[in-house]
Amino acid sequence: MKNRHSGSRIGVKTDPQKIQKISDHICLWFLLLVSIAFISFVLTKLITAPLRNKSFEPCKPRIVGIFHIASSRDATFDQISKLTHIVFNHLRYQRNGTIRFVNEEEKETFKRMNKLSKKTKVKTLFELEIGDYSDYIKADIPGLMKHRNRQLILVDSIVSFITDHSLDGVYLHWEPPHTTTVQLFVTTLFKDMRDELTKATKQTNRKEPFIITTTIQRKNITLDFDEVLKYVDFLNLETDRIYGSEPHRSSWNEAIGPPTPIYSGHYKNSEDNMNGAARKYSCWTVIGRM
Ligand SMILES: *[C@@H]1O[C@H](CO)[C@@H](O)[C@H](O)[C@H]1NC(C)=O
Ligand SMILES: *[C@@H]1O[C@H](CO)[C@@H](O)[C@H](O)[C@H]1NC(C)=O
Repeated sequence: MKNRHSGSRIGVKTDPQKIQKISDHICLWFLLLVSIAFISFVLTKLITAPLRNKSFEPCKPRIVGIFHIASSRDATFDQISKLTHIVFNHLRYQRNGTIRFVNEEEKETFKRMNKLSKKTKVKTLFELEIGDYSDYIKADIPGLMKHRNRQLILVDSIVSFITDHSLDGVYLHWEPPHTTTVQLFVTTLFKDMRDELTKATKQTNRKEPFIITTTIQRKNITLDFDEVLKYVDFLNLETDRIYGSEPHRSSWNEAIGPPTPIYSGHYKNSEDNMNGAARKYSCWTVIGRM
């Protein structure tokens, strides 16, 4: 008993030293951690400085919906309100550069849906497919390239369509321009369109620029993004039908899976999913612009 007591007394005597030691340790560790934090902070700032100087503006999320004006069912006010952009699809491009509705019914549906959209904050665009799968139209990209007159008519038709119907812009759906000549041509046409739309912005006293967007294929870098993104506001990456074939494309990826997987894929196609495509394109476009 006594020993134990004296032991505890000894213990009590040595406590202040122990506490001193512990607090010294804590102090040291604290200082070390603070220095590490400081060094990491400085390093991070140094490393990311070149990125920050490029004034990257974080882009607002977009929810783009495509409405097919041949549809027998209208979109509702609630559905449209949830979008940031609505694209009206099914206008026809004609060889001489003009555009038209397929029929009166589609024209009426378009007008009705456009009117309803105007009651929401959604941005309204129309889609124009040039170089459709049908051979008739596909054949016309070379035709359009040869005739400057048709190009001017096309640009003019697009601008008039936008201003006549008080739309916010156009979605140009090109078939993939595989050759460099076609790529240059498509880029030139984007430039022409931007120039004319900028004029129209002033003429109509519009506060914000009109929108131009376009399709890009998920597999190939088909355009010079540095140049294209000077005129185009955003790109619409095609990620539908990653798996599954279409009747006229027997060599299409025939692996079985969901048509548009978000992350999954098969061994050699393991990057064939939305995540892979988005990563690839964000690299191509961002690195190109840095
Ligand atoms: C363009 O072609 C369509 C159909 O062929 C025709 O109806 C229209 O009048 C033509 N427009 C011009 C400006 O040539
Ligand atoms: C990619 O481009 C090449 C030619 O530039 C073409 O032959 C090939 O079909 C394209 N691939 C896809 C998936 O479009």
